[in-house]
Amino acid sequence: MEDWSECLDVAVQIARRAGQVVACAAQQEKRVSSKSTPTDLVTETDHQVEELIISTLRHRFPSHRFIGEESSAAGVKCELTDSPTWIIDPIDGTCNFVHSFPMVAVSIGFAVRKELEFGVIYHCSDGTLYTARRGHGAFCNGARLHVSRERDVSKALILTEIGAKRDPATLDIFLGNMRKMLSAPTHGVRIIGSSTLALCHIASGAAEAYYQYGLHCWDIAAAAVIIREAGGCVIDTSGGALDLMSRRVVAAGTREIADYIVKQLQPINYGRDDSD
Ligand code: IPD
Repeated sequence: MEDWSECLDVAVQIARRAGQVVACAAQQEKRVSSKSTPTDLVTETDHQVEELIISTLRHRFPSHRFIGEESSAAGVKCELTDSPTWIIDPIDGTCNFVHSFPMVAVSIGFAVRKELEFGVIYHCSDGTLYTARRGHGAFCNGARLHVSRERDVSKALILTEIGAKRDPATLDIFLGNMRKMLSAPTHGVRIIGSSTLALCHIASGAAEAYYQYGLHCWDIAAAAVIIREAGGCVIDTSGGALDLMSRRVVAAGTREIADYIVKQLQPINYGRDDSD
């Protein structure tokens, strides 16, 4: 049975290289445009970095498949099959990148037979590297990661992200959900503008839980392995198993806090990544 460690080593090398390209581009002027909504931003660096990652990996692993944020935006079908599949976000936190707000990451996940095998997330602004392989633990710059073991939601710090939709009905539900989290009461709610880095904070125990409607499979894939290997849970907002394509997630250090959040949330429908 393959352990995919060679693929993980290549993922680490290319994530670091891509992260350096992003860090350099962060010092320069950016050409910005929008995708699905006026707040869903993309720059030429997103395209350049995705091309760098996919062409490098394709050359090395020609039989593998690829799902990438910018390829999907350009119309490539976002399809998870049983084949070894790389799931790539070249710049997570593009809006942060545009504003030089230092929460920007490269995220590379890898799935085989629809099961996530490893994840690599490189924090471009400070060079922190998060890695995990299924069954082998999660690490930050080589040091073992552990989630928070807190079970009491009144002592929890909760993270979320806004998503791209800003119509009044969506914002009402979003703010209603946040109000429920604040009035639980919890210690607080934070939004940092990068789903992958927020999820890494759950893995490191810096916050107890994360929930979001509107993220994509490339925002969750790598981080899900990292959180699970750090001892946490990553589930659907319904409380069932995570569906990578469903554009919604609850992640937490403990099942108790995840279950509490699941019971509070009112859903926001973003459709699916794999719908035509
Ligand atoms: C987005 C960011 C944002 C989150 C979105 C993500 P991108 O990723 O993580 O904070 O709210 O759901 O899609 O577009 O910067 O790669």
